[in-house]
Amino acid sequence: MEKTSRISGFHKMEWAERLKIVQSFSGLHNDDVKLLQKEGALNFETANRMIENVIGTLQLPIGIAMNFLINGKEYLVPMAIEEPSVVAAASNAARLTRDKGGFFVTSTGPVMIAQIQLVNIADGNATRMVLFEREEEILSIANSQDPMLIGLGGGAKRIEIRVLSTPMGDMVVIHLVVDTRDAMGANAVNTMAEALAPFIEEWTGGKVYLRILSNLADKRLVRARTTVDKKSLGGEEIVEGIINAYTFAAADPYRAVTHNKGIMNGIIAVVIATGNDTRAIEAGAHAYAAQSGRYSPLSTWGKDAEGNLVGTLELPMAVGLVGGATKINPGSQIAVKILGVQSAIELGEIIGAVGLAQNLAALRALTTEGIQKGHMSLHAKNIAVMAGATGNMIDEVAKRLVLDKKVRVDRAKEILKELSNE
Ligand code: MEV
Repeated sequence: MEKTSRISGFHKMEWAERLKIVQSFSGLHNDDVKLLQKEGALNFETANRMIENVIGTLQLPIGIAMNFLINGKEYLVPMAIEEPSVVAAASNAARLTRDKGGFFVTSTGPVMIAQIQLVNIADGNATRMVLFEREEEILSIANSQDPMLIGLGGGAKRIEIRVLSTPMGDMVVIHLVVDTRDAMGANAVNTMAEALAPFIEEWTGGKVYLRILSNLADKRLVRARTTVDKKSLGGEEIVEGIINAYTFAAADPYRAVTHNKGIMNGIIAVVIATGNDTRAIEAGAHAYAAQSGRYSPLSTWGKDAEGNLVGTLELPMAVGLVGGATKINPGSQIAVKILGVQSAIELGEIIGAVGLAQNLAALRALTTEGIQKGHMSLHAKNIAVMAGATGNMIDEVAKRLVLDKKVRVDRAKEILKELSNE
């Protein structure tokens, strides 16, 4: 029979039935199916409520980044990531910052923007004014959607209105500015925007299309700063190297993207561990990096009056502690417990500090021994396993691969053969 992906009612099927269908479609081995059937902290029932058509869960390592001193408080930071060296690098960089007090972080508060797109209007400027005249009503309709948020001191606080001149005529965009407290806030602000749409159409005679949050969360910024003692860092030469690396990123978008990728290594690992929306954070960060019209580094590196290295980082940080996967996924709840955070603001601030630490670690490695040495020892272990090494052999084969500077599966197989003959 012809293979087809048009399988009706898949979403209503039991777990075993879904697995059977995927197995026969893709030719999965029975052992593959058994692995999919293994439940971890996130069991099938919970996973099946999180997304649709679930057939299993995918695990990632969680490592703890050590040495983080942030706003005078000690933190152990859980990071969920597949890339070797990231956790060790963050821990090493955080250790270097401790002599000068670690990381100092502030934020603007958990303020999100919902956008409402209004079209088919005669005059954008006049419509803008009509809507401002309705600001109180707009806020009250928005706030009637979420009494709990209001009870916690959050809610829609004000509106901003922009008139965009487009090939389809004037487009009025209403920004509803909402304090979402400990929630990431997507659901809260989208509900408000959708509730407002019919009223806005009635008041203006226009047509509302999109009603959705903006991931350019530039009212929800986290700002981090650190100073690294030049001696702890390894001397003036390294300070100069890191400032040169930053200057390269500031002058060249090709480098700025990689510079920011290093920052996101740390940020996204904590975002995943705590069950937050990685795509929202990535999209917001990169849009923020491009706000000047040219893609730029999210961090800066310079030196203080004594010649110590100083770093700063600023980016949108739309993360929450309530609602979403953070509350549902038991692993994320444990990550939040390890962090010991009390609010979404505190979580965002930790993530900012981790981003800056990760950037420091990458630039220090890049301006000194290069990135490969650190990467290679863990990578070599994976290669050894791929070549068939088990138990003590994994470390032995990995050690020889690194010594040979040939971290390849073919070489690992040769070494394995040599070792088994010994
Ligand atoms: C690798 O995952 C991250 C780096 O490329 C970051 C950087 O170049 O700054 C090392």
